[in-house]
Amino acid sequence: MQNEIPLEISILAASLESILCTEDLLNRPSRPPDYKVENSALVALTSALADSPQTILQTLADKVLEVLQADSAGLSLLTKDEKRFYWAAIAGAWQPHIGGGTPRDFGPCGDVLDHNRSMLFTHWERRYPYLSTAIPLADEVLLAPFYVNGKSVGTIWAIAHSNRRKFDAEDLRLLESMGRFASVAYQAVGSIEDLKSEIVAREKAEGELRQLTVDLEEQVRLRTEELEQRNAQLADAKSELSQLNRRATAGELSAAIAHEINQPLTGIVTMANAFGKDTHVKTSTDVNKLIRTVLGLVYIDLRKHTIESKVNLSKQLPPIIGNEVQLEQVILNLVMNAIESMNLAAQPRVLSIKSEITERNGIQVSIADTGSGIDPANLYRVFEPMFTTKARGMGLGLSICKSIIESHKGRIWVTAGSPRGSIFQFEFASKSGHHGAAVAASDHIRQTHPCRYNPSRMQLRRSRSPQL
Ligand SMILES: Nc1ncnc2c1ncn2[C@@H]1O[C@H](COP(=O)(O)OP(=O)(O)OP(=O)(O)O)[C@@H](O)[C@H]1O
Ligand SMILES: [Mg+2]
Repeated sequence: MQNEIPLEISILAASLESILCTEDLLNRPSRPPDYKVENSALVALTSALADSPQTILQTLADKVLEVLQADSAGLSLLTKDEKRFYWAAIAGAWQPHIGGGTPRDFGPCGDVLDHNRSMLFTHWERRYPYLSTAIPLADEVLLAPFYVNGKSVGTIWAIAHSNRRKFDAEDLRLLESMGRFASVAYQAVGSIEDLKSEIVAREKAEGELRQLTVDLEEQVRLRTEELEQRNAQLADAKSELSQLNRRATAGELSAAIAHEINQPLTGIVTMANAFGKDTHVKTSTDVNKLIRTVLGLVYIDLRKHTIESKVNLSKQLPPIIGNEVQLEQVILNLVMNAIESMNLAAQPRVLSIKSEITERNGIQVSIADTGSGIDPANLYRVFEPMFTTKARGMGLGLSICKSIIESHKGRIWVTAGSPRGSIFQFEFASKSGHHGAAVAASDHIRQTHPCRYNPSRMQLRRSRSPQL
């Protein structure tokens, strides 16, 4: 019935004194000290401590049970937060209660530590009702505190579950003796715990490191993906630009052809302007800058095909009066043809771009490759519209170049490279030079000097090449 008494009532019902019978230990008939039993127990414990420190607390409980001939025996340890005691090791009838415990502030272990002495309890559940669930009930419990560095850290105890066995002064002596050993065992276990937590910490750190590596790899992967995406975007932008320029300059070509066949195709010309950039206005233009822009656009292609670029740009190059979009288109077309000619060519693959001032103060650009070269049979045809030797070529690139260059009062020609490849060159004369207007301001070139598609001119240039 006492088991069902609520905590508050039981406090009133049973004082600490009423469940203590420590004084009885002295009054009870005591057996003589059995040092032999005590010694052999301590020796066994010492060697157990050396051999298997992990289980030393349990071995200690077993020994207390054996030496005191108790029904249950065990160790209670104060938790780190010092809020409760937990039963770290139990031998005998109470073994199933391992891991249970009692509150620090209201329980027999707490009483022992508070009074800093060993105590003999009888039917402690009368004061501590929660102990009534710990079956079998304790008729008598003998508890001794133990210390580490002067600080009490736990209790060691023996229980008699029936009144068949009454603890005496010799039991107390033995228990206190083993309590001193408990202190050593506790410290050993403490260092094991430290070791364990060290291992746990190390494992955690290793886990974190592994995670970090995984994260890092993931980041590298993402960055690579991002980079690839950027490259793809750049390639798109490049082909868009090329497309834009091509369509825009197709207007020029149409105009040139229109003049040739004497038919006005102005509708097509106007269409070219719909692409945003004005393809007719001629302004002061830095050709070197256009070359650098084109090199930026083809950077990926050069790398992809392991093509080395050699760039030699004259620092004194005067600006020319021209249309940037168109002239960039010329350079891009020539460079793309050069790259395409080297795609499958043997190494070394070299793209050489040079800008220079001509003898007559004009400017000249040459774009040379070490590619397949041009079959002499086709030499006179490469600037013709629709002439192509490529499966996916339109045969427009060079004819557009020619049209643009001529609309700028310039000339374009090709010679064979040495020992292989081709050299495309174009030139604009200076203002005062032989060719007229290219290096001077001229906003109405098309109107005053209609472009002409004139292959014979190219023929003339080619015939200058000793290699062809
Ligand atoms: N650098 C070069 N090396 C070798 N052959 C060239 C070179 N440049 C041009 N050619 C030849 O001239 C032809 C015409 O070139 P063009 O640029 O006009 O057209 P395409 O490159 O074939 O097609 P696209 O219209 O796409 O430019 C090419 O098909 C190729 O046979
Ligand atoms: Mg081409």
